Amino acid sequence: MNDMLTIAMSKGRIFEQAMPLLARAGIEAAEDPDKSRKLVLPTSDPQVRLLIIRASDVPTYVEHGAADVGVAGKDVLLEHDGDGLYEPLDLKIARCRLMLAGRAGDTTPLHDHMRIATKYVQTTRRYFAARGLQVETIKLYGSMELAPLMGLADRIVDLVDTGNTLKANGLEATETIAEISSRLIVNKAALKMKSARVKPLLQQLDAIVSADN
Ligand code: ATP
Ligand code: PRP
Ligand code: MG
Repeated sequence: MNDMLTIAMSKGRIFEQAMPLLARAGIEAAEDPDKSRKLVLPTSDPQVRLLIIRASDVPTYVEHGAADVGVAGKDVLLEHDGDGLYEPLDLKIARCRLMLAGRAGDTTPLHDHMRIATKYVQTTRRYFAARGLQVETIKLYGSMELAPLMGLADRIVDLVDTGNTLKANGLEATETIAEISSRLIVNKAALKMKSARVKPLLQQLDAIVSADN
């Protein structure tokens, strides 16, 4: 089992965009996670397996060594605290921005105690604290774009790619908090103990990403 390399990622856009990169490094999933109920997927390499978990759980698995390596969005990594992992490679996939947004035309200045609905509570608090503002965060798990419309919050902090979701809900973005892409993360102990497996994979993926960008 110690020769086994375990890679954690979420299904959906991360799986769809990370697997073509892994395929070029010789790792192909034996099954499609959208068609299988299995959470551990074998791959074309008998010594590599994939764990299919929630995006926000990927750093937790990697930090505790339940996975050696993972693919996680920078948004998730900014929100995760803990220091058992390295973040050695930007895969430059699943790119978007973490932004502050509000009702279109709302010119109310940012102020203390304003209510911000978000999945990214820590990152939001940190961002406003750095500007000397203390905001009231309202934790949501999705569909943040609804909160200002329903009067639940003054603003939201959420991911924006095309801007279509904001626009469809009468919102507009006002500030970029962070540029987001997915990163390869590695358990600190695994980098040492399994360096013969992890380092070549890192080097291959680094070359693959460089060739594409
Ligand atoms: P769930 O809440 O169901 O666990 P999720 O919304 O966290 O799912 P995804 O939507 O697959 O899961 O998002 C995974 C990662 O992809 C995010 O952490 C972010 O880094 C990136 N991402 C999310 N939305 C977009 C988008 N619209 N465009 C590009 N990248 C995105
Ligand atoms: C993500 C994100 C935004 C939207 C932004 O949602 O949470 O709502 O994409 O993309 P856009 O600017 O191109 O509209 P996702 O598609 O992941 O749906 P979800 O609510 O299931 O997370
Ligand atoms: Mg999503």
